[in-house]
Amino acid sequence: MRIEENYSLEKHNTFHLPVKTRWFMEYASEEELGRILRDEYFQECLSLHIGGGSNLLFINDFNGIILHSQIKGITVVEETADSVLLRVGAAEKWDDVVAYAVAQNWGGIENLSLIPGEAGAAAVQNIGAYGAEIKDVIETVETYNQLSFEKRVFTKEECQYGYRNSYFKNEHNDPHIVTYITLRLSKHPQLSIQYGNLKEALASCSELTLQAVRDAVISIRRQKLPDPEELGNAGSFFMNPVIPVAQFEQLKKQYPTIPSYPAGEGLIKVPAGWLIEQCGFKGKSHGQVGVYEKQALVLVNLGDARGHEIALVAESIRTAVKDTFGIEIIPEVKYVG
Ligand code: EPU
Repeated sequence: MRIEENYSLEKHNTFHLPVKTRWFMEYASEEELGRILRDEYFQECLSLHIGGGSNLLFINDFNGIILHSQIKGITVVEETADSVLLRVGAAEKWDDVVAYAVAQNWGGIENLSLIPGEAGAAAVQNIGAYGAEIKDVIETVETYNQLSFEKRVFTKEECQYGYRNSYFKNEHNDPHIVTYITLRLSKHPQLSIQYGNLKEALASCSELTLQAVRDAVISIRRQKLPDPEELGNAGSFFMNPVIPVAQFEQLKKQYPTIPSYPAGEGLIKVPAGWLIEQCGFKGKSHGQVGVYEKQALVLVNLGDARGHEIALVAESIRTAVKDTFGIEIIPEVKYVG
């Protein structure tokens, strides 16, 4: 177990905000986690469990305990002629899991290449990209209940997955800390390359393999999304709004080029990046906060931005989109403090 006091979180949030936490605790096993959670001092403190910090916006220093998992390991727990079941420690870097699966020629997560963050948080957030979501391959999620100290194995259905949403994000449920996830991967992968420019990127490819798809996804992401190591950011800052078809039809009359994706019965998903670009924010900066020039859905820290400055720019974007299109956009990024 590792315990640090007045610890900088700069390397634990991909915006690289120089905030501090009163305490930082890292555990390497479920037993160590249990000991932390049962501690009376812990129970009196404000606490927050983080993964890779790739979806967080710290507004202030954190006057409590930041918990971080060091539970690692990727093991095959079941193998059939058609599939493998992979059990992954929550602290594994997500892209290492993808690289491992692709190297073994096991399919299902190759479209989720290069997404920052750790495996446990990926399952909480239901990460998605290029037509795939982690929920498509999740078999179970193992957790530790922060209040009752009970371990539980959630089936996929019990995880209640939705777009960037799950049981674990619902504040009405007991807080559950993810310890392991299991993924069902295919030995006879069906490639899914229909999403937008992925198909184009693979058009000249002589042999369609998992590695080819992974390479194409990585190349598209590198072209469109800034590397958090070079330019602090948290990926898409907002979720793509889902609106009724009737509202979309009205908007289309005024904005004939508005892109859209079907989102279930009577609903349409509209790319927030497009809405934000139409409002004139793309490529502009506001002090140390930038709206990325290649993808307007991404806010970037141009140097020494503070969390509240990023939140202010996000608020002005949200207001402009609401005033222009009558559409509410909601942050995907979680605000802390
Ligand atoms: N677009 C614009 N202007 C922009 C950005 C996008 O017009 O500045 C348009 C594009 O031309 C395209 C459409 O919006 O027609 C969609 O753009 P893109 O394919 O880049 O995807 P997105 O909807 O903006 C989502 C996810 C990303 C994921 C990509 C690819 C959300 C909130 N974001 O973005 O996920 O990588 O699809 O699948 O759902 C993340 O969640 O952090 C993330 C990066």
